[in-house]
Amino acid sequence: MADAHYELPELAALYDLESGWSDDRDFYLALAGDEPRHVLEIGCGTGLVARAMARAGHRVTGIDPAMAMLDAGRQAPFGDRVTWLAGTAQDFSLEDRFHLVFMTGHAFQVLLSDDDIRKALANIRRHLQPGGSFVFETRNPALAWERIFEKRATLAAGEGDVPVEWRVLWRRGELIRFDTHYRLAAGERVSESTLRFVPSDRLGHFLHEAGYSIRAVHGDWDTSPFDAATSREIIVHAVNPA
Ligand SMILES: C[S@@+](CC[C@H](N)C(=O)[O-])C[C@H]1O[C@@H](n2cnc3c(N)ncnc32)[C@H](O)[C@@H]1O
Repeated sequence: MADAHYELPELAALYDLESGWSDDRDFYLALAGDEPRHVLEIGCGTGLVARAMARAGHRVTGIDPAMAMLDAGRQAPFGDRVTWLAGTAQDFSLEDRFHLVFMTGHAFQVLLSDDDIRKALANIRRHLQPGGSFVFETRNPALAWERIFEKRATLAAGEGDVPVEWRVLWRRGELIRFDTHYRLAAGERVSESTLRFVPSDRLGHFLHEAGYSIRAVHGDWDTSPFDAATSREIIVHAVNPA
């Protein structure tokens, strides 16, 4: 099964232990600002940021194709304040037009083909108010992610520790394929993932083609400028021109 860690309830329940609160979450929370706004997170998963924004008083909608992730988010603290919807970045359709749409937790990297990226960017722009922002991040392909991804961890789950191991299978072109092995008490579960690492110049091309203007590109969560050779992240603040 592809990306079982989003689709299987017993693995989705571990997601917030694996990907907890960090600087990137603070960056997005600050973006929503102090005035209550209607914001949209795409690829929200369990909605770590979406729930924090709802807690801060914003009206938040979260979209994700994985029902197990949406269910985990609904049951988590402040989950009852978020509107959760099943859908993909390429195909979701809402009446609302948003001041801020964002994709975080590197969710943008699940878009593997040029066609998926083009469809998602066009669909997201359709859902922005004039002058509205689409903000997202993707890992800079200049780094040796095939080595960085190879790691082990132990997740302290309620039912006992869960050892986890990430194994990279290959890196080809802009894609990296890896497996995540979870040693649950009930036996091993393996989640297969492929992510795309789009270079910054190519990303800029996709965004211009889709009609966005680019307000900023950061290389880290402290908003330092992007450096193609050394930055870990490509953090893009794109705008739907008014
Ligand atoms: C790494 S998780 C990020 C979750 C959340 N944004 C966070 O920051 O914790 C990636 C999410 O993207 C979702 N996803 C997969 N394919 C997608 C698509 N085509 N459109 C939108 N989201 C997708 C997955 O189900 C998963 O919940």
